[in-house]
Amino acid sequence: MGLTIGIDVGGTKIAAGVVDEHGAIIARTHRDTPADSVDATAAAICDAAAELIANHAVEAVGIGAAGFVSSDRSTVLFAPNLAWRDEPLGARVTEQLKVPVVVENDANAAAWGEFAFGAAKDVEDMVCITVGTGIGGGVVIEGEMLRGAHGVAAELGHMRVVPGGHRCGCGSRGCLEQYASGKALVREGRAQAESGSLAAVQMLSVCGITDPAELTGPMITDAAVQGDPCAVELLDDLGRWLGEGVASLATIFDPSLVVIGGGVSAAKDLIMKSAVQAFEKVLPAKANRPHAPFTLAELGNDAGLIGAADLARRPVPTL
Ligand code: BGC
Ligand code: NA
Ligand code: ZN
Repeated sequence: MGLTIGIDVGGTKIAAGVVDEHGAIIARTHRDTPADSVDATAAAICDAAAELIANHAVEAVGIGAAGFVSSDRSTVLFAPNLAWRDEPLGARVTEQLKVPVVVENDANAAAWGEFAFGAAKDVEDMVCITVGTGIGGGVVIEGEMLRGAHGVAAELGHMRVVPGGHRCGCGSRGCLEQYASGKALVREGRAQAESGSLAAVQMLSVCGITDPAELTGPMITDAAVQGDPCAVELLDDLGRWLGEGVASLATIFDPSLVVIGGGVSAAKDLIMKSAVQAFEKVLPAKANRPHAPFTLAELGNDAGLIGAADLARRPVPTL
């Protein structure tokens, strides 16, 4: 198969690109993500893809969506942080574009991008975690993407790490996503500032704001890069949760590499150091077993787009 389109549907931006079989993006475009409208989102996806199809011989389209995707890779069953509920996204987009469309979980797509062309291209077993607004997961075992019986395996952000902990958009409590995501980072930063912590108030001023409600994830990362102690500690905490979560995952999957991606991974060492430390501390039988190194995603923001494009050219065996 020649060229395919990959589309990454993010919270603010829909990024689309024409990708060749080596994972190279040869053309790209984008649209703003319409707020809260499922119909407008499908329309914007079609619009971006149509623009690319007009100039390139495209054989299929892959869409990475931040939610639980059905095993036939067409319906977004549920999205904890978005409005999709049983949304037949694949069918809608195919009908418009007259091109085969597959829908993939966004983190599965990013994991596949890294596995096929990025940080994990030399291994066969990997766990990838994307740290953004939510926490996404993708698991590749013996060179195959883990999909599960219903297509919704590797929802790693909804692994329970704190019984009775913070409420999550999935309806449960205590999910990893509530402790190690960008959303959790902002919640903690705001809570500390609202409680009047001097260190947190100092952090706000480094961010150039006075109202805790204006605090964002990228602001905290920037403040940490500048050495602000409160921001550094918030990211350190996030990394610790991440490392502990991955230790549990390693007991199940025994990966040879752990890849950390997503927007918050721009904080690099500020989360990676504490993640690796926590992982090595709580990994069961740590002294008597080989274990995986951690690495940052290599394809950056393009991992999901490139992965979705590549998955679009791979049929999934059905029973
Ligand atoms: C969703 C996942 C998604 C992740 C990252 C989670 O809340 O359940 O499906 O991959 O966020 O976007
Ligand atoms: Na996933
Ligand atoms: Zn959850």
